[in-house]
Amino acid sequence: MPGFELFSDLERKEVTDVLDNGVLMRYGFDGMRNGHWKAKALEDELSKTLKTKHVQLVSSGTAAVSVALASAGVGAGDEVIMPTFTFVASFEAIMMLGAIPILVDIDDTLTLDPKAVEAAITPKTKAIMVVQMCGSMGDMDALRHICDTHNLIFVEDACQAIGGTYKEKPLGSIADVGCFSFDFVKTITCGEGGAISTNNEAYYLNADHYSDHGHDHVGSDRGAETHPFLGYNFRISELHAAVGLAQVRRLPEFIGIQKRNYTIIRNELARVPGVTFRRVPKGGVESYGFLNFFLPDLEVANKVSKAFKDHGIDVCFHYYNNNWHYIRKWDHLKNLKSLFPMSEDVKKGLDDLKSKDFKQSDHYIARNISCLIKLSWTEDEVKARAQKMAELIRFSL
Ligand SMILES: Cc1ncc(COP(=O)(O)O)c(C=O)c1O
Repeated sequence: MPGFELFSDLERKEVTDVLDNGVLMRYGFDGMRNGHWKAKALEDELSKTLKTKHVQLVSSGTAAVSVALASAGVGAGDEVIMPTFTFVASFEAIMMLGAIPILVDIDDTLTLDPKAVEAAITPKTKAIMVVQMCGSMGDMDALRHICDTHNLIFVEDACQAIGGTYKEKPLGSIADVGCFSFDFVKTITCGEGGAISTNNEAYYLNADHYSDHGHDHVGSDRGAETHPFLGYNFRISELHAAVGLAQVRRLPEFIGIQKRNYTIIRNELARVPGVTFRRVPKGGVESYGFLNFFLPDLEVANKVSKAFKDHGIDVCFHYYNNNWHYIRKWDHLKNLKSLFPMSEDVKKGLDDLKSKDFKQSDHYIARNISCLIKLSWTEDEVKARAQKMAELIRFSL
């Protein structure tokens, strides 16, 4: 991560195609396009990459989560179980539909603890959303089992995990519906963009229509299309899709670089006593977009985080003290700071967030450091960086 570090003539060529024919919208204008359908081409390419029957592009990863949930019928008053460690987009996307995010503890995979999920199920639960944080994954078999047992929709937010696999299946293709982000900082980027992937034909058609005002996309006269149901505009533009099209074709190259850089740093840190790594479920292969490790306690993690900053080791995050990714600092959610009135259901569902104890999540996040793996580092730079990191950790212990 991130793909923008290696922009090349491949991305430029795709964007130039779009500008040359002048059609920036993904639907319609068939005559003007000279055969260029970048969003459609990117959907086809992603389908192959993800080994999934259907892919629907949308305007962002946040939109992808909302559209995925809506397409599966999640709405007002439904509870969606999600982890305490994720990005704010997870609860935003749920609440946008009038549904209720139910936050539960993570485990050493850094995503949903299946035991915490089971304990949170109520008659209102409609879906379980695993968030494949920082390029790795949850216990997919255990979570699938829970969904099947309780007849729940299984949603996989793979916005940070493209290129990872579980039992040879691409992350984002395993649950009933998967979500991706192609925002500016992701392994492959469109600038802004997202996608829904699914093998479920009904969910796909719902996503296709819902993300474009409910248009049925039948025929080639947009004005004559019908609206089987209400929708919104979560469309991606051809310009964004063009960038993503070049990037997705380079995914194997990007994952290869991430793996090399990740492995150098991991091998060096593995020699430092007191450093341990997140658990990757058996059968799982990370995307190598991040290296996540644990230190003995919060005090050491604070020291290491400061030492990294003071010595120019950038892009290493201590999420315990971060406003975006961990429940501890989501005061706007806990205090229900909304621009407009919220439903009583949602207010009631979030009522206990302020007082709820997430000790188990704290246990992992307080001690975790998450290092982004850049694509632009040379091998020598990564080796020097790895040695410096190991030295600073040893000094802080
Ligand atoms: C786990 C996760 N879900 C959803 C999103 C939302 O994606 P976007 O920024 O494209 O809206 C992000 C973005 O960082 C993310 O990390």
